[in-house]
Amino acid sequence: MATTRSAILVLVTICFLLAAPPAYSERRGFFRATMTRNEPVINLTRAAHKSRQRLSILAARLLDAAASGSGSAQTPLQLDSGVGAYDMTFSMGTPPQQLSALADTGSDLIWAKCGACKRCAPQGSPSYYPNKSSSFSKLPCSSGLCRTLESQSLATCGGAGASASASGAVCDYKYSYGLASDPHHYTQGYMASETFTLGGDSVRGIGFGCTTMSEGGYGSGSGLVGLGRGKLSLVRQLKVGTFSYCLTSDTTKSSPLLFGAASDLMTGAGVQSTPLLKTSTYYTVNLTSISIGAATTPGTGRHGIIFDSGTTLTFLAEPAYTLAKVALLSQATNLTRVPGTDGYEVCFQTSGAVFPSMVLHFDGGDMALRTENYFRAVDDSVSCWIVQSSPSHTSIVGNIMQMDYHIRYDLDKSVLSFQAANCETF
Ligand SMILES: *[C@@H]1O[C@H](CO)[C@@H](O)[C@H](O)[C@H]1NC(C)=O
Ligand SMILES: *[C@@H]1O[C@H](CO)[C@@H](O)[C@H](O)[C@H]1NC(C)=O
Ligand SMILES: *[C@@H]1O[C@H](CO)[C@@H](O)[C@H](O)[C@H]1NC(C)=O
Ligand SMILES: *[C@@H]1O[C@H](CO)[C@@H](O)[C@H](O)[C@H]1NC(C)=O
Repeated sequence: MATTRSAILVLVTICFLLAAPPAYSERRGFFRATMTRNEPVINLTRAAHKSRQRLSILAARLLDAAASGSGSAQTPLQLDSGVGAYDMTFSMGTPPQQLSALADTGSDLIWAKCGACKRCAPQGSPSYYPNKSSSFSKLPCSSGLCRTLESQSLATCGGAGASASASGAVCDYKYSYGLASDPHHYTQGYMASETFTLGGDSVRGIGFGCTTMSEGGYGSGSGLVGLGRGKLSLVRQLKVGTFSYCLTSDTTKSSPLLFGAASDLMTGAGVQSTPLLKTSTYYTVNLTSISIGAATTPGTGRHGIIFDSGTTLTFLAEPAYTLAKVALLSQATNLTRVPGTDGYEVCFQTSGAVFPSMVLHFDGGDMALRTENYFRAVDDSVSCWIVQSSPSHTSIVGNIMQMDYHIRYDLDKSVLSFQAANCETF
């Protein structure tokens, strides 16, 4: 009897899989939004500390994912490291309620503080009010997004002891933050569905976490918009297949964030592309080598390098870091070196300095950086290399290095493309 039942279940599952449309076939056009840096003036001391926190969290989550075979990939970031990241402006509900939330290429779930949220961090930022929206609904346990969360032990359905058949029950989620079981960094609430408005365009039925309680440091926005590769992310839910952004080097200005066809604006000469490594939950690519002036040094090997919008500095795993540093120093003999702090190991007097060039060679494309992408003024007289040594295998291309490039993430084709651009012309 039980065997027959499992056989039928298998058959039904196979039929369902065969009938299921490909993940991104149902396109809904394109959307245009903007992002703003949440710390407009880059303070290199703070950037070093926050970037290092973010690096350790991304690295720990990779180890976690490798250890458990799947994903604690959904475990969101400890948002104290959200300083120096980008907030996205968007609206939720009917009529639209405008919010801003951390745009995060390193995670998937979308969430916002819901209602009065008296026990939520941060206090002070606006909340989304479900009771003021006619398009709000709670997501049932039977929804695909709830199942995705449940499969990662991030959601429970219908409370303790509820029967498995309670398909109409509310999908309660709880995310613990940080590296180990840290009881003071979490966000929790229930999954819901809402109309999101990006730029002038609205899309119904976006699943998000309606947060009713949270503790920890969450930057200054109202929540987080996951732009990762998993099912819960905004990109996947919009079913657009691609998104792109162009971070303007004038950090006081807003930067365009484009979804779907809008990101096809990237055309013409100078478009470079490299495959995304399929093994990673992050947007990781293969950095094959680095050119520093006339020297070429090795890349970051099989662990690749992550493009991350939420990390300010760039980190290279060893030995790539040290070899690049040595190449840089050996070609900067006519520059006056000064001691650095906060992990900056290569600092020079800026006056009259011409820094050696730096090119990142990816598998299939080269990124010839402008000096501003890798040297930053610490003060009026000193500039430092914004590349630091990673204590793990995890390497990151941070947001200073991405500035003034249009960067497109193609989830359909698993390709990352980039092109030098004036971000203010989009
Ligand atoms: C940069 O940040 C550090 C640490 O938060 C602070 O001590 C310092 O005063 C800041 N520097 C400037 C120029 O604001
Ligand atoms: C919505 O709920 C909040 C508390 O969460 C309450 O203060 C407010 O009056 C409610 N608004 C409406 C229109 O019911
Ligand atoms: C990275 O690219 C190089 C050169 O194309 C190739 O030999 C290597 O196998 C690639 N590594 C990974 C992890 O894909
Ligand atoms: C320093 O040397 C480099 C070549 O190694 C050269 O391009 C640059 O102009 C020199 N800078 C100064 C200030 O002499």
